[in-house]
Amino acid sequence: MRKQLTTVLCALALSGGVFAQQPSWFSDQDLTLTGAYYYPEHWDESQWERDLKQMHELGFEFTHFAEFAWAQLEPEEGQYDFGWLDRAVALAAKHQLKVILCTSTATPPVWLTRKYPEILLRNEDGTRLDHGARQHASFASPLYRKLAFRMIEKLAAHYGNDARVVGWQLDNEPAVQFDYNPQAEEAFRQYLREKYAGDIRALNAAWGTAFWSEAYASFDQITLPKRSQLFMNHHQILDYRRFAAKQTCDFLNQQCLFIKQYARHQWVTTNYIPDYESGHIGGSSDLDFLSYTRYMVYGDNEGIGRRGYRVGNPLRIAFANDFFRPQTGTYGVMELQPGQVNWGSINPQPLPGAVRLWLWSVFAGGSDFVCTYRYRQPLYGTEQYHYGIVGTDGVTVTPGGREYEQFMQEIRQLRGTVPAKEVKPADYLARRTAILYHPENAWSINQQKQNATWNTMGHIEKYYRTLKSFGAPVDFISEDHDFNAYPFLIVPAYQLADPELVNRWTQYVKQGGHLVLTCRTAQKDRFGRFPEAPFGAMLTELTGNELEFYDLLLPDDPGRVEMDGKSFAWNTWGEILRPGAGVDVWAAYQDEFYAGKPAVTSRRLGKGTVTYVGVDTTDGGLEQEVLRKLYAHCGVGVLELPYGVTLDYRNGLGIVLNYRDRPYRFELPQGAKPLIGETEIPTAGVLVFRF
Ligand code: GAL
Repeated sequence: MRKQLTTVLCALALSGGVFAQQPSWFSDQDLTLTGAYYYPEHWDESQWERDLKQMHELGFEFTHFAEFAWAQLEPEEGQYDFGWLDRAVALAAKHQLKVILCTSTATPPVWLTRKYPEILLRNEDGTRLDHGARQHASFASPLYRKLAFRMIEKLAAHYGNDARVVGWQLDNEPAVQFDYNPQAEEAFRQYLREKYAGDIRALNAAWGTAFWSEAYASFDQITLPKRSQLFMNHHQILDYRRFAAKQTCDFLNQQCLFIKQYARHQWVTTNYIPDYESGHIGGSSDLDFLSYTRYMVYGDNEGIGRRGYRVGNPLRIAFANDFFRPQTGTYGVMELQPGQVNWGSINPQPLPGAVRLWLWSVFAGGSDFVCTYRYRQPLYGTEQYHYGIVGTDGVTVTPGGREYEQFMQEIRQLRGTVPAKEVKPADYLARRTAILYHPENAWSINQQKQNATWNTMGHIEKYYRTLKSFGAPVDFISEDHDFNAYPFLIVPAYQLADPELVNRWTQYVKQGGHLVLTCRTAQKDRFGRFPEAPFGAMLTELTGNELEFYDLLLPDDPGRVEMDGKSFAWNTWGEILRPGAGVDVWAAYQDEFYAGKPAVTSRRLGKGTVTYVGVDTTDGGLEQEVLRKLYAHCGVGVLELPYGVTLDYRNGLGIVLNYRDRPYRFELPQGAKPLIGETEIPTAGVLVFRF
């Protein structure tokens, strides 16, 4: 995957990723670019210029065309019409708006679906999806791919050399399809043939098919796992999920390569939903960087206080930033709501100020652009009630639109003051922490939770939340990254492992890293099988612990675990540890027949430390204490930000965000100067300072 030049040096120092130097798509001096989706095909052509002119006057710098427009681009098979798009691109350029083009593969036209119904996606019960919505084509269909790629190639040949077009977004929120089209089944068999080198015995061993007479005599007997079939072989499900993710990755990668035959100076990305467990994010290696979509207010109250549902979950954007950015060092947000959406359980107005708060949240993570979904509120179609930057008359700016305008003015005000070289405070960098993540662990654990109240992402979030309260820079990384680039590495519930990975962790610690391993880590091999050894033994040499057994409790009768005089409730998973010599016990169980036995241990090894947290507590309080103690032992100072307040640094700026239901007074670091906002930060308020 390519990388933005301006962040290469920083990323090599901070994330340790190994990337070649690549063209610079964005300039640090711009801080961020802001854009808006526009669908020329939805509006009378006589209005296009008025709309694009107003878009520019409000401060937007780019627009986004042609998503879902396959029917307009190829009205009949093999007949292309780019005239309307040419005119829209020309008007955008006239009003100084750069253009992002979309490949529109999410909406095949009706001539295509009627003539070739075999391209349609199927549900497990055999229902075929149909024309009239979107995302109804099967990525596994070779014919669909052929027709899609033909259209994309025409589009790329037409616009690939056009300086008015800066980049491409593939498809729309491409997801992993659980598709029961017969072609998907054939593709799954082919995937397995390749994976197991045509040897069905190897597959039988990997899937443990001696169990329940599941053995296969040939690859042709294998079917797609039925999601509705309880107790399906979960090793098979693991491979199926890998296959399904790969289908989406390959489809996107191929699209990208078609575009790149023509587009030498335009970037290619796609707009992922931050569905962290899906497994396809980051898997299309030819994309230049990743972008994501984010909606914050849609009825669920994940925010703080009575009106938290109008502000949103305080870490929802931060988590996505920290997940997407480390993939290549560059990222943007392709969709951010400007107001009410149409699809939530309840679609309330955001709190005044919230839209601007989200924009600054995107910015705080280091993004290069943000794009709003959408410029005009539609007058017809599925998304009629979806707010835009302007309302149903096409000209009146909505409250969210005004907040975008304010944000864009603030960014312009800060441009020109950006230091030539990225600098961040030393105490902030000292807290740099990576969280090692692989979706396969969630697939495996969620298939065999052992306790219905266990929540894999929830477990990870307990550590993440603590790190954000410390004011620590966090990167979610994969095994492709260099662990040594981080003083702290957290490995939460990383169930699938092998001795090579454990050895890499061990070397990391010996060379001075501080490793935190948590319960359920390295308990299975990469096929999801237990090694023939004492349970959990893959980690014994590294942690110094043997694992006596694990226990699971009822949620309404939790157990307690004690650390440094504080007691914490737990019920989802608790490992009873038997530490060897030289291992310090940090926390112990307080009740049951294992009262007094260790739950958390820590030891020095070589130049570093390894801490093992064998329990998952109800509110993450113990996890917080463990990290606090560890960072203190390492002489690394941390902040104590309350939940709902975050601090990040970029481009010589400190950005403090307040998602709480009350004001927060931020103590500025010595010598820092506020540029935007006050140190008394109101709800949904933002403070930007120069340090
Ligand atoms: C997104 C989708 C957009 C639009 C939007 C409405 O998930 O990518 O195309 O439908 O939701 O909020």
